[in-house]
Amino acid sequence: MPPNFPVPDPSLRQKKTIMPISLHIPRRELLRRLAWTSALCATPGLFAEELTRTPRQTEGPFYPDRLPLDTDNDLLVVNDNTTPAVGEVTWLGGRLLTTNGSPVRNATIEIWQCDNAGVYLHTRTGGDKAKRDANFQGFGRFVTGSTGEYVFRTIKPVPYPGRTPHIHVAVKLRGRKELVSQCYIKGHPGNARDGVWRGIRDQRQRDSVTLDFAPLAGSRVGELTARWDIVLGTTPELP
Ligand SMILES: [Fe+2]
Repeated sequence: MPPNFPVPDPSLRQKKTIMPISLHIPRRELLRRLAWTSALCATPGLFAEELTRTPRQTEGPFYPDRLPLDTDNDLLVVNDNTTPAVGEVTWLGGRLLTTNGSPVRNATIEIWQCDNAGVYLHTRTGGDKAKRDANFQGFGRFVTGSTGEYVFRTIKPVPYPGRTPHIHVAVKLRGRKELVSQCYIKGHPGNARDGVWRGIRDQRQRDSVTLDFAPLAGSRVGELTARWDIVLGTTPELP
């Protein structure tokens, strides 16, 4: 199976000039190593059945009330800091698709999550603000290209009181919010106790947002990858 992975178009995002010292491989090369499976490829009409729609889930109370100055797709490094965030480095990516498998381009995908200490980038965060990791961006954006691909570098989510680990996502098309959802860690014991996760009644939908956080092949610093193809229930008019 040929590797098929999101390689972001540099023109679509902000560029950071300094990478964490722990990453000796240029980011672009690293992205090339991401061996995303290509089970879902771009050809419309390839699917005998419709893809499972990503379930709508609550936005929760912690969408940043003040956006960080840096909103690019690398949540590990804020602006040109040299100290990366604390946490298990995770490449989260996949494709934005319609239910018939067509890629959705020019969509803005936003993610937000708490830092490794369970603290959100929010004035009313429930966590202990004194423990907040100032090096974690907490929020990121990516504009999909012609193949619908997106990628973020972030941390593996951690639990905070009342919730199993999760990453929030919002998908916007021409400024309109098409979907708000969350993804989870496959096999995490907290999932079964989590009201939001349990609230996804359809098993296939629940499975579609419960992701494998697998070791990144060839990574010498223990990075993880998590693939999440986000499927819109509506068929947007593509620009
Ligand atoms: Fe949350």
